[in-house]
Amino acid sequence: MRTIAIETSCDETAVAVLDGDGRIVSSLLASQAQTHSRYGGVVPEVASREHLRALDGLIEAALEESGEKDALDLVSVTSGPGLIGALLVGVRYASAFAWGLGLPLVAVDHLEGHMLSPFLDLEGAPARALPSCTLALVASGGHSGWYRVTPENRPERLCRTRDDAAGESFDKVAKVLGLPYPGGPVIDRLARRGDQSAVTLPRPRIKDNPLDFSFSGLKSAAIRESRRRALETTSEAASSQGICDLLASFELAVIDVLLDPLPELYQLHQPDVITASGGVAANSLLRRRLVEAGKTLGVEVLLPPLELTTDNAAMIARAGQLAWARGESQDPRRFDARSSEKWQPPGMRSNCRDTARRLG
Ligand code: KG4
Ligand code: ZN
Repeated sequence: MRTIAIETSCDETAVAVLDGDGRIVSSLLASQAQTHSRYGGVVPEVASREHLRALDGLIEAALEESGEKDALDLVSVTSGPGLIGALLVGVRYASAFAWGLGLPLVAVDHLEGHMLSPFLDLEGAPARALPSCTLALVASGGHSGWYRVTPENRPERLCRTRDDAAGESFDKVAKVLGLPYPGGPVIDRLARRGDQSAVTLPRPRIKDNPLDFSFSGLKSAAIRESRRRALETTSEAASSQGICDLLASFELAVIDVLLDPLPELYQLHQPDVITASGGVAANSLLRRRLVEAGKTLGVEVLLPPLELTTDNAAMIARAGQLAWARGESQDPRRFDARSSEKWQPPGMRSNCRDTARRLG
């Protein structure tokens, strides 16, 4: 099933075409990061309008790159979680596209898409099949959790953050220090110049579920330290040794917290492969630590190419193919977007509000 996919859940408009074996034929992205960086976070209404502006051109370019649109067999689109207005742009566009061309349509969960990015290849190889048990870390600006994934790409959440996502905590600490949005990549670079043991920071534990984790206390402790040491900057280039030291210590603590459940999860589930995905999976320390953990545990670690760690449509196309293989499809006249995580327990705040809060 040659598949075209649309992803508009947050601040990247993405379109991709995959052939029936999951080979990436075209994967295009229009990032809005610069537009939002002047506000210090994603502005939902601006994101929706930018998606609307970008989609026509991206679809046209993807079809040009991949050949005849008559050759398409399936349309896949992210239906949630994410910013509801932004999602709706993609969902309505994909529905009209599928309806107009008489193609089947599948709605895909954004996190199920991320979980597939380590199995994709940018050099033209087919997608790898999922093994019988994958232990998958998904860490992004809106989500952080560990999942067990079946060969059909059916995930079961094993543990998660109770408050901020890992990427969100990077973004917030960067903002307080005067660094640009998104904070994760800047912190990754500055932390390489710092001393990880310079600042002592907590690694909070959750009492009622020891595998769940939390970043809010750690983030606040880092912000308190930055104020106590009067650390502030105007740009990445102007950052002092004190800032690099704080960021190296903070980054280490975030990665420690993310990886803390791994040995126990490994013992419990005996996975064939361990993966990481989502924007934070671009972090160089996290990648290094996961490879080391894989060697210690004697298990394969599969990481996505850097270009596929952040939001992209290739992962959504692949998730669409696996959803179609499971027998799923949507009526393009009747399906809708949803803002919150499927696995979210009642009472947890929505991802939509999370992202808006990054402005605060
Ligand atoms: O997956 P993604 O593009 O969008 C969401 O679904 O949220 O993830 C974006 C997040 C941002 O919070 C960004 O700061 C973080 O990923 N990020 C990183 C790195 N690159 C992006 N965090 C740590 N280190 C990086 N190298
Ligand atoms: Zn994402």
